[in-house]
This record gives sequence, C-alpha cells and structure tokens, in this order.
Amino acid sequence: MIQTTAASLAYQDQGRTVYACQDIDMEVGKHEFLGILGPSGSGKSSLLYLLSGLKIPTSGDVLYNGQSLSKLGDEERSRLRIREFGFVFQQPYLLGYLTSLENVLVSKPNENRVDEALDLLDRLGLSHKSHRHPHELSGGERQRVCVARALLGSPKVIFADEPTAALDHSNGLSVVQLLNAMRGTGSLVMVTHDPTMLEEADKIVRLADGRLDILN
Ligand SMILES: Nc1ncnc2c1ncn2[C@@H]1O[C@H](COP(=O)(O)OP(=O)(O)O)[C@@H](O)[C@H]1O
Ligand SMILES: [Mg+2]
Repeated sequence: MIQTTAASLAYQDQGRTVYACQDIDMEVGKHEFLGILGPSGSGKSSLLYLLSGLKIPTSGDVLYNGQSLSKLGDEERSRLRIREFGFVFQQPYLLGYLTSLENVLVSKPNENRVDEALDLLDRLGLSHKSHRHPHELSGGERQRVCVARALLGSPKVIFADEPTAALDHSNGLSVVQLLNAMRGTGSLVMVTHDPTMLEEADKIVRLADGRLDILN
C-alpha cells in the first residue's frame, strides 16, 4: 500500500547536510499495524512525514498504491492526505475555540459527518463531552478527541506520531488500543520510543540515526 525505495530526507543545517532518514526501503501493508520504534532524534517523525506525504524525500521515492508522492503537486498531495489519511500527533492539537465535536469535524472539511463524529465520540466514551471545549477536558480526553478526528471518514491509513507521549502509561495504552480496535480495515502506522505500546503491532521496524535497523 505504501512503499519506499531508498527514501532519504536531508536537512541543511548551517551549510551541512544532515540526514533525518537515509536510504529507507520499507513497506506498509494493507490493514497492517506497523510500529516504528527508535530513540529521540532517530528520525521517526521524519519517516512518518515521508510515508504520509507531509514531506517529500530529497532522494529516493515513496509510493502510495503505486503512485509516486513526489510526482504529485502540493495541492494534489494535500487532497490525497485529507481523503485517505488520518493523523494523531504527540500533542493534542485542538482548536481552543471549537467544541470537541467541531474539532473532530475539521479533519474532513466540506463533508457532512456530524452523525459519524458523534458516534465516534460516543465509542471513545466522550458523548457527554461533545460540546465541551479543549480546556474543559483532561489530557487523555483531549487525545481521544484527536483519535476521533483521525478516525473520521474511515481513513485508509492512520499515522500516529508518539500519540501516547503526553499521557500516563495506562491512558497511553488505551489510546493505542482504541486506535487499533476502531481503525476498521485501515492500516495503522505508529511511531513511538516505548515498545510496550506496540504489543498489538503486526510488524515493528527500528530506526537508529535515520537508518532502518531491524525488520521483523
Ligand atoms: N527542520 C529541521 N532542520 C534540521 N534538522 C532537522 C529538522 N527536523 C529534524 N531534524 C533533525 O533530524 C533528526 C531526526 O529528527 P526527527 O525525525 O524529529 O526524530 P524523532 O522523531 O525520532 O525524534 C534529528 O537529528 C533532528 O535534529
Ligand atoms: Mg518525533
């Protein structure tokens, strides 16, 4: 479903080339839960940006269903992301002036998905919080709103970048289990430095210094 061929992402840092990801060859399968494990600074976020088309590789390629993401224009790539992907980030990025329900709906603009959003919030145990604003929610509740937002529209792939990092272990684990249980037929690509979050993963890859280390 997603394939990378010798994909690298280089940054220019004071005239020096720094590789956040280097020569990555990997695949994300249909309906697969893939874990990307590695310490801080190993290139996990960068790899997630490449796989999801948030960034394009400085060399090599990333294919989504055989289509090179580098060959799409910015707008086309952004439409593909909105249509096909869901995202959960480390910090629950919610808009403070919107309710939980409205925050869920922003991931699929111009679509009427109110019933679906309410159903997701309900299944995440937040039906009574759908009209609350982010500052009225706990950290775990805020991240569950982000989970609902990522799940809206049944995306083909959900990308999660350390979604448990701002939570205590049990709230963190529950976020991962909910993502995994509710993703339907979608794939889940989750980045973390914490192997205990990947007990349900089908496959785990390891990153060290921007390179893929172990594949199992
Ligand atoms: N915009 C940037 N400019 C320069 N270097 C960057 C930039 N973003 C990330 N890096 C570097 O790339 C490496 C990998 O970063 P990142 O993908 O964020 O790692 P992780 O998510 O595993 O912590 C780090 O050494 C980081 O400093
Ligand atoms: Mg990161």
